[in-house]
Amino acid sequence: MKLAGQTVVITGSSSGIGAEAARKLARLGATVCLLARREDQLAEVRESIEAEGGVAHTYAVDLSDPDAADTVAKQLLAEHPRIDGLINNAGRSIRRPILDSVDRAHDYERTMAINYFGAVRLTLALVPRFVEQGHGHVVISSSMSTQVPIPLFSAYLASKAALESFTRSLTAELGHKGITSTVVYFPMVRTEMSTATHIYQAMPMLSANKAANWLVKAIVDKPTRVTSFAGTMGELGMAALPGVVTKASQPLFRRMDKSLAKRVKD
Ligand SMILES: NC(=O)c1ccc[n+]([C@@H]2O[C@H](COP(=O)([O-])OP(=O)(O)OC[C@H]3O[C@@H](n4cnc5c(N)ncnc54)[C@H](OP(=O)(O)O)[C@@H]3O)[C@@H](O)[C@H]2O)c1
Repeated sequence: MKLAGQTVVITGSSSGIGAEAARKLARLGATVCLLARREDQLAEVRESIEAEGGVAHTYAVDLSDPDAADTVAKQLLAEHPRIDGLINNAGRSIRRPILDSVDRAHDYERTMAINYFGAVRLTLALVPRFVEQGHGHVVISSSMSTQVPIPLFSAYLASKAALESFTRSLTAELGHKGITSTVVYFPMVRTEMSTATHIYQAMPMLSANKAANWLVKAIVDKPTRVTSFAGTMGELGMAALPGVVTKASQPLFRRMDKSLAKRVKD
């Protein structure tokens, strides 16, 4: 029970990686606060935690709505005298070519609304509590695709890169007050989000269960980052040969998409 006595807020915990991570954190003794829009799914996750003897509280909220995010933050602070960790995991992805997005600036706004502003708003609301306690750990669910540039996800990846930068600033600026942070760079994970793209059914992916272990590691060990070997190699490639790696991305991904489409058809 490594996390006994601790309270962890986890957004996007009605499904996928967030729901699995919430169950695992509760098994380690943490009281988990589950945030997402779908009330029924949140209740199912809470009930599964309670059935194993854990403690979970649910908050149905649209975090892309600034007023709703402020309200839920106040509620969390009022109901939990101690908050040890915040996992900014709620997110949405959009896969769309830039040339199909020229009249769709709202795609960029709506990914920022949940992936960036929703997370920032909640974090800012909890920071004074973290400072008062002398500790607080902020984790974000980001993507390996911010380590190596890939095509078709410009709105999504820009919002994740912005959140990474904000999250690193927390430690850089407030580390001496006990505020720490972890950026988790997930590869592809089989969840509702990734299976929305038909051809990705044929792609080998991490299970949500395994991916959730990355969030648990982030909360328990508090490393600066959790990443994969491929992600680190991608970053080294970008540092050494940025032009070559960036140009290679498009033909490589076009080939991969063709091969996935063929495998889905077969
Ligand atoms: N799957 C992957 O391949 C992959 C790869 C890299 C990073 N990630 C990141 O991992 C995180 C979890 O994604 P997932 O793969 O587990 O997908 P998922 O099952 O679709 O989970 C997304 C979660 O975010 C919540 N959410 C979305 N919009 C929200 C809003 N406006 N307000 C509050 N909650 C909201 C969803 O709940 P409601 O719909 O109930 O609101 C859901 O619980 C995301 O940040 C994603 O970007 C995923």
